[in-house]
Amino acid sequence: MLALANKKPIIIIKLGGSILTDKNTPYSMKNKVIDSIVSQISDYYHTSNQPKLIIIHGAGSFGHPIANSFSIQNGLNQYIPNQILGLTKTHQGVEKLNTKIVDGFLSREIPVLSLTTSSVFFQAESFLKFTGIDQIDSLLELGIIPILFGDILLHDSKNFSIISGDRVIYEICKSFSSSNNPKYKIDKIIFCFDQDGIIISNTEKDSQVIQNIKLKDLDLLSLKNFEDSIDVTGNIRGKLKEIKKICELGIPVQLINGQKPNLLTKALRDEIFLSTRID
Ligand code: IPE
Repeated sequence: MLALANKKPIIIIKLGGSILTDKNTPYSMKNKVIDSIVSQISDYYHTSNQPKLIIIHGAGSFGHPIANSFSIQNGLNQYIPNQILGLTKTHQGVEKLNTKIVDGFLSREIPVLSLTTSSVFFQAESFLKFTGIDQIDSLLELGIIPILFGDILLHDSKNFSIISGDRVIYEICKSFSSSNNPKYKIDKIIFCFDQDGIIISNTEKDSQVIQNIKLKDLDLLSLKNFEDSIDVTGNIRGKLKEIKKICELGIPVQLINGQKPNLLTKALRDEIFLSTRID
């Protein structure tokens, strides 16, 4: 087995649907932000000797509103008209957003390849099966950036739900952390979303970004209440639940504002700026 020091570092980047799309207007992309994010990752890839990266994106308004209107997150319900069609449309919505992102990278000559999340995850009775780790491994070996996304999730016993991009990240981290994967070590996860970090409210009027926090203190935070947009995976609280599980694997996490110019570049280069780091 390779020594820990010989393991190649991987950075995982989550592109939240809140920065890629306007969550409240179905099927609306934030083209400028998408272009900026894709070009920051591309520049980093070109200038950093082909670092090992994995990208996971959310669904935003290409997934949440349609999933919600057919209650896909709550599983099969015979009383919802056309729900099965809604399930397939939910998947196709995220595929469209995925195509936009993949095309952006390919037009900048960055080799990316998307793995369809609903084809590599399956909810068995008591556990979530993930069969994509060997494909991710092979793609990384070839210098290709794997891209996965929040998607629908098929279950056994004729059912379904939604799997968030954050859960996908946790499952990838779990697989890479196991001793069966001696080649890679996940260095850090960068979550790009539409805030400067985790915002806590001290009083009704006074709120602040928490810049460094230890995993053990995460539950003690009094989170600022955001205007809730339609979100079938639980808004910031749902995300923090998955982030906590990732940190429990010993992987540092940084939450950054992906809408502000060049912050992703800074995070990739480990520069200091206003964001939240959890370790
Ligand atoms: C949601 O994934 C997937 C669907 C609604 C189909 P995420 O939870 O990762 O998406 P965002 O980042 O909140 O948009």
